[in-house]
Amino acid sequence: MGMRVLQLGVGSVGEVSSRTMAPDPDVSCVVLADLDEHRLAEVAAKLPAGKVETLQLDATDKEALVHALAGVDLCFNALIPEYNPDIMTACLETGTNYLDMAAAGPRDVVGTADVDEEIAMDAEFKKKGLTALVFFGIDPGASDVFARALYDQFDTVERLTVLDGDNSSVEGVDFAPSFSPTTMVEECLILPPHAFENGKMIRRQSLSTTREFDFPAPVGKLKVWNVDHEEAQLMPMFLADKGLRDADFFIALDDQWVNLLLTWRKLGFDHNKEIEFGGASFRPLDLLVSRLPKSVDLIGRMHGAVCVGALCDGTIAGKRVRRYMYQITSHDEAFRTMGVQGTGYQTGIPAACGALLLAKGIVKTPGVFAPEQIEPAPFLDLMTEHGTPWGVVDLPLD
Ligand SMILES: NC(=O)c1ccc[n+]([C@@H]2O[C@H](COP(=O)([O-])OP(=O)(O)OC[C@H]3O[C@@H](n4cnc5c(N)ncnc54)[C@H](O)[C@@H]3O)[C@@H](O)[C@H]2O)c1
Repeated sequence: MGMRVLQLGVGSVGEVSSRTMAPDPDVSCVVLADLDEHRLAEVAAKLPAGKVETLQLDATDKEALVHALAGVDLCFNALIPEYNPDIMTACLETGTNYLDMAAAGPRDVVGTADVDEEIAMDAEFKKKGLTALVFFGIDPGASDVFARALYDQFDTVERLTVLDGDNSSVEGVDFAPSFSPTTMVEECLILPPHAFENGKMIRRQSLSTTREFDFPAPVGKLKVWNVDHEEAQLMPMFLADKGLRDADFFIALDDQWVNLLLTWRKLGFDHNKEIEFGGASFRPLDLLVSRLPKSVDLIGRMHGAVCVGALCDGTIAGKRVRRYMYQITSHDEAFRTMGVQGTGYQTGIPAACGALLLAKGIVKTPGVFAPEQIEPAPFLDLMTEHGTPWGVVDLPLD
């Protein structure tokens, strides 16, 4: 029979995930649902005939969503994460399995559900005999699976760090966020990053810690900065039993971009609230975002590669080891093979691999599962098979 999937959102990630899932023999049909009719037609034309349907849908319309979920085995959520809890609730009502690729929140800053609120729906999914795979993109997602795979190899694990580095340049553009500009500004400037420090969860100020990291070739040495990301919460939740003391997330950022954000902070604009000026009220966040290119406008213009991986510091058989497990995607190659930019490619494929774990019956236990909680090997095999192979390297100790 195969799995019938309702995919919500056919943006840059959704295009890649649907093109990865639909050809699989264990998937009978991908129903693409989006507000944007033009996008639906554009992406549907790239999927195998007979395995795709389209539906213009506003996912915030609960009744329409519940209707669309009838007869569907998996709801694959590729929308902005603010909608996640409502979509999960609709899945509980309709008896549909669920997958998403990022969390929203933190609730105390942006007023939307964070990582822990999705995990807290575990009992309800269990009760209904349904499975939800949450935060299954590249980071979060594959990065957390890498952390789990390394955790399994080590006898003690003191520190887990996710490092994301992109060395690309964009023709004719000074500041070019490679994913949603709003998310990028929120993550880098507004949200106080979670960090696990000396065995305790703390909150820092973003861009308060920096260092250099030598990413595997062809990415190379880049300056990385602390920003808020799901992994800093997830890794201590699930991978703390071998002595974890520290867990953190760092992303490589261009000096010019960091200077711009720190200047914005000095001007008092590092928040998401409205301010009054000249008789009008507006959010400085929206003003800044309005000056940045959208990620879809960068397709074909980004040159370079992005590396995402988990670094594990601990011991194996009494010896200190520092091991980095990673995935590298070339923006140029992603454009050549699929006509997309690297971030959509690198996120959409692991998310589709999560869906294929369900389609193939490899994961079928009811409950809500973070990427750290699944058996890494089948997921890692699917990543390689579908065009996102990974590597492992031992790095020198400090
Ligand atoms: N984990 C990761 O590694 C990672 C990386 C990048 C993006 N993401 C996540 O992936 C998701 C998608 O990212 P993207 O870059 O494809 O976004 P995008 O903005 O390109 O696409 C979003 C799509 O959703 C549609 N949409 C918006 N509101 C809708 C609604 N109410 N009803 C129906 N459709 C609606 C839009 O028309 C658009 O086609 C986001 O949640 C993002 O946070 C995760």
